[in-house]
Amino acid sequence: MSRHRVYVARRLPDPAMDRLRQHVDMTVWPTDELPPPREVLLREAAVSDGLLSLLTDRIDGALLDAAPRVRVVSNYAVGYDNIDVAAATSRGVVVTNTPGVLTETVADFAITLLLAVARRVVESDRYTREGRWKSWEPLLFLGQDLYGATLGLVGLGRIGTAVAKRAHGFDMRILYHDVVRREDLEHDLGLEFTSLEDLLRRSDFISVHTPLTPQTRHLISTDQFRLMKRTAVLVNTARGPIVDPDALYRALADRQIWGAGLDVFEVEPVPADHPLLRLDNIIVAPHIASASVETRTKMALMAVDNLLAALGGQRPSNFVNPDVWERRRI
Ligand SMILES: NC(=O)c1ccc[n+]([C@@H]2O[C@H](COP(=O)([O-])OP(=O)(O)OC[C@H]3O[C@@H](n4cnc5c(N)ncnc54)[C@H](O)[C@@H]3O)[C@@H](O)[C@H]2O)c1
Repeated sequence: MSRHRVYVARRLPDPAMDRLRQHVDMTVWPTDELPPPREVLLREAAVSDGLLSLLTDRIDGALLDAAPRVRVVSNYAVGYDNIDVAAATSRGVVVTNTPGVLTETVADFAITLLLAVARRVVESDRYTREGRWKSWEPLLFLGQDLYGATLGLVGLGRIGTAVAKRAHGFDMRILYHDVVRREDLEHDLGLEFTSLEDLLRRSDFISVHTPLTPQTRHLISTDQFRLMKRTAVLVNTARGPIVDPDALYRALADRQIWGAGLDVFEVEPVPADHPLLRLDNIIVAPHIASASVETRTKMALMAVDNLLAALGGQRPSNFVNPDVWERRRI
């Protein structure tokens, strides 16, 4: 039997590449820092049976129409807003993602950003390196305590829950807003379910953990910033467009809120001359919340296993569109 042909849109950790190589013929986009241009993706997809895609690769109906052999798109991420899932489903293409394995690592990073903004870690680092430290000062780099403060979680799925567990250890009061109420977790972790407005008014720290959907695009915008405390810290490790960047800029520049930490941006990579990057009350990172050696390897192996399972006619573990499986066997 001839081997399946797969296009891999970026080099992944070695164990995953080795596993793929054993089972399929693959072409890998060689440039680590940049995604394949659209024309390359179209050309490679046209001759492939499966795609291993990243959140930087737009997989839409036009691409799938140009790729009649493609039966599976395995996304190397838990989020899949780069894929037109309806277009894939209507063409019988299986879409998979990598949920669960990155939950704890992303939650660690959300807490990292909360603490780093609250305790002004990046400003302090710069100040110390620049030789501006003259003596111990009572008022130098005063920050906010995470300990004992109120945390508002927007979205209480896997990652939101993992953040709640960590916040519990900081003796925080934890509010959450979600479209689904989780009474089991309310009881176990002492969480309080609130409206979004109530959460924004009462929280000292706000951390965003919803997927990007039409309902969550600019969920946090001018009206929402107006509700926040002047001492509030906002952290977004979910998806950039959930927070309106212009409204965030105004809120930070006018000191309407105290600070922000962003791992994700509306446009990625964020341009170096973006106004947000001129502010001193924001900490930014280049979408690295899941970037630990162990987690990125687990994600890659999961994405490979999903791809190989679907190509081999077995049910992948992590379907985004399971109904495709019922309708159309590979
Ligand atoms: N920065 C990163 O590297 C990184 C890494 C992993 C995940 N993410 C993002 O984090 C998101 C969450 O991941 P997860 O594994 O916790 O997903 P999940 O599906 O387990 O949780 C998402 C939660 O958001 C809730 N939700 C959906 N729409 C909502 C709305 N309109 N208002 C309020 N709540 C809403 C859902 O009910 C669910 O509880 C992913 O979709 C992904 O985009 C980012």
